[in-house]
Amino acid sequence: MKFSADVEANHENRDPLAATDALFSRRWSPRSLRNTEIPQEILDSLFDAARWAPSCHNEQPWVFLTPGDGEFDLFLSLLNEGNQSWAKNAALIGFICARKHFARNGGENRHALFDCGAAWMSLALQASLHGLYAHGMAGIKRGQVHEKLGVPEGKFEVACGFAVGALDQPGKLPADLAAREKPSPRKPLAAVHLRGNARGALAR
Ligand SMILES: Cc1cc2nc3c(=O)[nH]c(=O)nc-3n(C[C@H](O)[C@H](O)[C@H](O)COP(=O)(O)O)c2cc1C
Repeated sequence: MKFSADVEANHENRDPLAATDALFSRRWSPRSLRNTEIPQEILDSLFDAARWAPSCHNEQPWVFLTPGDGEFDLFLSLLNEGNQSWAKNAALIGFICARKHFARNGGENRHALFDCGAAWMSLALQASLHGLYAHGMAGIKRGQVHEKLGVPEGKFEVACGFAVGALDQPGKLPADLAAREKPSPRKPLAAVHLRGNARGALAR
């Protein structure tokens, strides 16, 4: 996979192992997004990638909502103000809804949000493969998403919002956001994978 020179230069915070594919460490969540025309087949591939995510009982509890013609501003208005300030420049804004009950027996699906996370990551990685960036957003007006987009509260939980676009110059962002516009570091591997007795760290 190829990354542009500015993206390469920007990644000094990140320290993947040599054996880890760059697809994972090069994905990040810029706020400097640019509205670029995304060809329909590329757009479809983002949601198709999400479709192939694993899920509990293969229930595929995710539903991705995106604007119809003339609805971008409606979707934008359903983000909190902080997210609106940068997501207004994105090519796409959407919401991920989690179906709360199993189709198979009507029981509560306690893994629906977990599965939506897997589907979201597939979308984000597929976006990376097309040179696009996907940015998740918890800062959304959940009640209004239900109300304005007709998402029944009894059936769905709004898991997250997201924006997709091309990378733009950080200088166009408000100064506080521009200063944070860099791929973030991660905890060391040893802090997140506890083998054997290392799990004793959990109690400390
Ligand atoms: C569930 C979720 C919610 C998030 N909510 C927001 C948000 O409301 N606003 C925002 O600017 N970034 C949001 N982010 C982006 C995270 O801050 C970002 O993923 C994290 O700092 C790791 O950085 P990276 O994605 O660039 O690797 C969210 C990400 C996720 C996965």
